[in-house]
Amino acid sequence: MREKELHLGLIMDGNGRWAKARHLPRTAGHLAGLKSLKKVVLGAINNEVKYLSLYCFSTENWKRSQEEVSYLMGLFSSKIYSELPFYQENGIKILTIGDLSPLPEDAKKAINDTIEATKDNDTIILQLAINYGGQAEISMAVNKAIKNGETNLTPEVIRSYFEHPEVPPVDVIARSAGEIRLSNFLLFDSAYAEFVFCDKLWPDWDESDVTKVLEEYSHRIRRFGGVK
Ligand code: FPP
Repeated sequence: MREKELHLGLIMDGNGRWAKARHLPRTAGHLAGLKSLKKVVLGAINNEVKYLSLYCFSTENWKRSQEEVSYLMGLFSSKIYSELPFYQENGIKILTIGDLSPLPEDAKKAINDTIEATKDNDTIILQLAINYGGQAEISMAVNKAIKNGETNLTPEVIRSYFEHPEVPPVDVIARSAGEIRLSNFLLFDSAYAEFVFCDKLWPDWDESDVTKVLEEYSHRIRRFGGVK
């Protein structure tokens, strides 16, 4: 057992490059990425990760081709709820962060039904970031706080207006496919996160990659601005 519950964030990058290398459409990369996602979730459970946040669709991803956007929306409507037996067998609770309102109705329904059906599971909390952006998250929380009459917008007050303030700040963020940037993921909560960047493309990830990320993280000394 870990002394503290661990929150791992994953930026799942490289689906397009994986598909291109195989002369396949980008959408085939996303489908392959979904398969690796299941292996990674099992790897996270085996490594006793309590919170796993996954960057599935950013507020900027609407700029992609209409074909790619509709394919991803189709994955949300057809693949999220259909994995219910997998969540129930493995004690997975699904949450989302991000503004679901512009999503197609069937995707919203599939997501909300999944959240409701898994609400009592507690082996691992899987937080799906869908139409999520870190800047939008902060701005939304600040607006809600103002509407609620708050006059002193401290970091703690702002955070209390997040969609899931009960989910602790992320401890480590790993990104696949060699890019070294945060891309608007968990901006506020990554203030003291550790970062692990991996060259492997997302569809090639499996259980062992979670173990590797956490092994690297275990050597980091976290001071949170103080001295050890
Ligand atoms: C980034 O790779 C990946 C995405 C924008 C989508 C990630 C989504 C999944 C893995 C599927 C999630 C689905 C469900 C149902 C939870 P990229 O396309 O930017 O790759 P590239 O940088 O090589 O072009």
